[in-house]
Amino acid sequence: MSKLRMGGLFLLFTFATTNLTSGCFEHERAALLRFKHSLSDPSGRLSSWNGNNCCNWQGVDCNNATGYVTRLDLGTDSSDEKLEGNELNSSLAELSHLSYIDFSGNYFGGSPIPEFIGSLTKLRYLNLSSMGFSGIVPHSIGNLSNLRVLDLSNMELVVDDFTWFWSLLSLKSLDLSGLSVVKAPNLHKGLLRMISSLLELSLSRCNLSNSHFHRMHLELNLTRSTIQTLDLHSNLLQGQFPLFLRNLSSLQVLDLSFNQLNSSIPFMNNVQDTGICGLKRLDLSYNSMGGRFTGPSTNVSECAQFSLETLNLNDNMLLGEVPSSLGRLKALRELNLGGNELTGNIPEVRAGNSRHDT
Ligand SMILES: *[C@@H]1O[C@H](CO)[C@@H](O)[C@H](O)[C@H]1NC(C)=O
Ligand SMILES: *[C@@H]1O[C@H](CO)[C@@H](O)[C@H](O)[C@H]1NC(C)=O
Ligand SMILES: *[C@@H]1O[C@H](CO)[C@@H](O)[C@H](O)[C@H]1NC(C)=O
Ligand SMILES: *[C@@H]1O[C@H](CO)[C@@H](O)[C@H](O)[C@H]1NC(C)=O
Ligand SMILES: *[C@@H]1O[C@H](CO)[C@@H](O)[C@H](O)[C@H]1NC(C)=O
Ligand SMILES: *[C@@H]1O[C@H](CO)[C@@H](O)[C@H](O)[C@H]1NC(C)=O
Ligand SMILES: *[C@@H]1O[C@H](CO)[C@@H](O)[C@H](O)[C@H]1NC(C)=O
Ligand SMILES: *[C@@H]1O[C@H](CO)[C@@H](O)[C@H](O)[C@H]1NC(C)=O
Ligand SMILES: *[C@@H]1O[C@H](CO)[C@@H](O)[C@H](O)[C@H]1NC(C)=O
Repeated sequence: MSKLRMGGLFLLFTFATTNLTSGCFEHERAALLRFKHSLSDPSGRLSSWNGNNCCNWQGVDCNNATGYVTRLDLGTDSSDEKLEGNELNSSLAELSHLSYIDFSGNYFGGSPIPEFIGSLTKLRYLNLSSMGFSGIVPHSIGNLSNLRVLDLSNMELVVDDFTWFWSLLSLKSLDLSGLSVVKAPNLHKGLLRMISSLLELSLSRCNLSNSHFHRMHLELNLTRSTIQTLDLHSNLLQGQFPLFLRNLSSLQVLDLSFNQLNSSIPFMNNVQDTGICGLKRLDLSYNSMGGRFTGPSTNVSECAQFSLETLNLNDNMLLGEVPSSLGRLKALRELNLGGNELTGNIPEVRAGNSRHDT
């Protein structure tokens, strides 16, 4: 009995060694080398990519138990270190156990994101930010049902349709900053789904205007909303503080800077406005909030009083004295009122622990 078991183990062992070149599968090593040869690497970042054990190569990681390549961590924010290529070489499709790809900051100028990326179905993290891809975001990304984090920001990409997004059931964080999304026919439904199902969403610099959020406050199922961090900076939002935001009880961080909002902050004046209760950071800098700044009224909602930690109203057109009512925001630690026409002193908020900037 015990001999049989030993035999089984032995077989397993020989099976594994015939496929591995000391810690790395030969077909994966070959695929990585083809990928390397398709790139230009002026700074020599991939100079460690030789020899048999590809698991030791810089930026490559394997699963210790299976030996498969699971991570490619090649992101860079240094322009001297960019890897460059005409397109993302399809040899990568052979690394079918990849769960993590960070290629951010490298340059694949003008080529589209290849369809094959959708075949890497074990991916949980995909960061292609600032890689110079252009064209339409491939719908095959919708096949990545294990994806938690997707960053496609800062590229001249077009989302022509949001149906691919519906099937990303594990997605928690999405960054589409700077992408052209406004022409997608199902944008409204896309926004609704994103706000309802993600924890983090960034749609800055997307040319979103009030009409894109029209009626959203009526359609969002608030008991279902999960969004904690929402970045809408540098869009075209005008007038009143957007209605739908008032009810997002899960929201903690909200960036509305560089829009054209001109109304007061709702929860500061409405004791009933308990929706946005958990908000910790609010950035309304570079908007058009003019007139006398009254600060939170006696009607400030109780939860706003105790949750808001950072408030940025820099570069609006606020006039008058800095109101002592700001002291009603008991949790406030950081306040920026610079770039306005305000006079006077910041009231004591929380002694010893506050940073003020006027
Ligand atoms: C991938 O790169 C290899 C090596 O440079 C090249 O021979 C091959 O044609 C490339 N594949 C594609 C699809 O471009
Ligand atoms: C894999 O092996 C390396 C080197 O022996 C070790 O540093 C690392 O912690 C291991 N990782 C896991 C997940 O076991
Ligand atoms: C993607 O990479 C960029 C550049 O390194 C980084 O700033 C960004 O935070 C990454 N995105 C995610 C979602 O991790
Ligand atoms: C991946 O997505 C494409 C386009 O949406 C689809 O045609 C294809 O059947 C999908 N492949 C798999 C393996 O699901
Ligand atoms: C936003 O609109 C401007 C002006 O029409 C245009 O030049 C720009 O490309 C648009 N940006 C996006 C991300 O759609
Ligand atoms: C809202 O979401 C809750 C929780 O998921 C669900 O029970 C309820 O039926 C939904 N309401 C509507 C109108 O969709
Ligand atoms: C606020 O902006 C809206 C939309 O641009 C405009 O109609 C309204 O007159 C503005 N209100 C004030 C007080 O400036
Ligand atoms: C949003 O909150 C307001 C009060 O702040 C409330 O009147 C409205 O019914 C809420 N909307 C939804 C969809 O729950
Ligand atoms: C406070 O709320 C009450 C009832 O809604 C309202 O009558 C009053 O004008 C509000 N006060 C301020 C300063 O907003």
